[in-house]
Amino acid sequence: MSLPPGPRAPTAIQTYEWIARPTTLMRRAQARYGEPFTLRLAWSDAPMVFTSDPVEIKRVYAADPAVLHAGASSAFLEPFAGPRSILVLDGEAHMRERKLMLPPFHGEALARWRATMAQAAADELATWEPGRPLHTLERMQAIALEVILRVVFGGGDPQLRDAIRRALQLPMPMLFAMSLWRDEQSGPYAAYLKRVRRLDALLHERIESDSHDGSILQVLKSTGASPAQLRDQLATLLAAGHETTAGSLGWALERLARHPDILARIREGDEAYLDAVVKEVLRVRPVLAITPRKVKQPYALAGHTLPPGVHVTPCIYLAHRRPDIWDDPTAFRPERFLDSSPPPYAYIPFGGGVRRCVGAAFATLEMKEVLRALAARFDLRPARATGERMRRRSITMTPSRGGYVVPHSTSRHADVLPPQPPDRQLPDLQPGAAT
Ligand code: HEM
Repeated sequence: MSLPPGPRAPTAIQTYEWIARPTTLMRRAQARYGEPFTLRLAWSDAPMVFTSDPVEIKRVYAADPAVLHAGASSAFLEPFAGPRSILVLDGEAHMRERKLMLPPFHGEALARWRATMAQAAADELATWEPGRPLHTLERMQAIALEVILRVVFGGGDPQLRDAIRRALQLPMPMLFAMSLWRDEQSGPYAAYLKRVRRLDALLHERIESDSHDGSILQVLKSTGASPAQLRDQLATLLAAGHETTAGSLGWALERLARHPDILARIREGDEAYLDAVVKEVLRVRPVLAITPRKVKQPYALAGHTLPPGVHVTPCIYLAHRRPDIWDDPTAFRPERFLDSSPPPYAYIPFGGGVRRCVGAAFATLEMKEVLRALAARFDLRPARATGERMRRRSITMTPSRGGYVVPHSTSRHADVLPPQPPDRQLPDLQPGAAT
């Protein structure tokens, strides 16, 4: 059994690139070695074999859960999510957890949260000052965190908000150091575990106190889950449910600031068009790049037989920019989703199979509510001419300048823009450039 080719640089170098320049690493490896290709990263215990071929991705998502384990590929999330989290479980234990988690995020239950989302968006937008530049990623994080806290607990408090942010938003050097040096007693990993324990204490306080009527915590408590199970479910929902949505909204604003015609069309109130905009943001700037599965029995992939232990890795980022599937793949063009549907498994922002994102419908609804509220109130202009690069923030890929844009009121386009310092940080990137 031989692994497909890939970069020969040491694991530490590949890990550094995966953290500092993930999109460049994936694009270069694909260009140099073709597909599938193999990366060696300290984040996982074994080589990762990447593919963006929809036929192979379909096979991976449909594979028998006894052959490919998604939970085992996410073991690196366990220190935060906990050993009973849906993210790290496999087989029957995973399916049991999934059945508990799906109902509150679908159908009628989902419709209940629409007003919560619209209110959180309105509260945030009311603080925006026309003409004053904003790092919108931060603002979208505030909205998404507020929404998930209201939905899960009925509301949050500043201590809990702060503990979640500190446990999830890890600076790049800390992330790199943690990947290579997992000492629980001292150093960056020990500091990280301390942040997680602080969050745990606050989550247990919430679990022990009376839960808010209709909150997800109340629903989960009614299933008879133990406090330890509840802790892992809550940590999972808080993490999975806000960083991803916030990052996607940050990208939406970064793109819309460079495409005012698209924002103007959202304002006209065409639901199908708004839906297409959300889909296109998730296509052209997917915040999660990969959906790996650990191989448990020899697995055939494009002429190779992958041995047990390695991770077969459908790559969302590369699948969404295949020139044989997408016309002008790096362009931001929502119309492409109005005219036709992509072939199956070519568009996978939420992964697939029995591991497909539990919050896909919830996140899509939240993105639409925020964009609708935004379009009603503001036009956006980029604070810098060049498009933003995709930069890693923990496990998500977010705009490198934090979605730095200037809001202008839709009724008054003459808001005064304060003088801006020149942007020396980035090489010349054209609006809409391939990142
Ligand atoms: C735009 C926002 C979001 C994106 C792009 C996203 C994307 C993803 C992806 C790619 C996966 C892995 C799927 C796979 O391995 O096949 C996933 C899993 C998951 N997501 Fe999301 N997600 C988003 C929002 C949310 C929200 C709002 C929640 C909860 C409220 C959520 C909860 C989960 C959970 C629990 C899983 C694990 C499912 C399982 O293992 O069975 N996500 N998500």
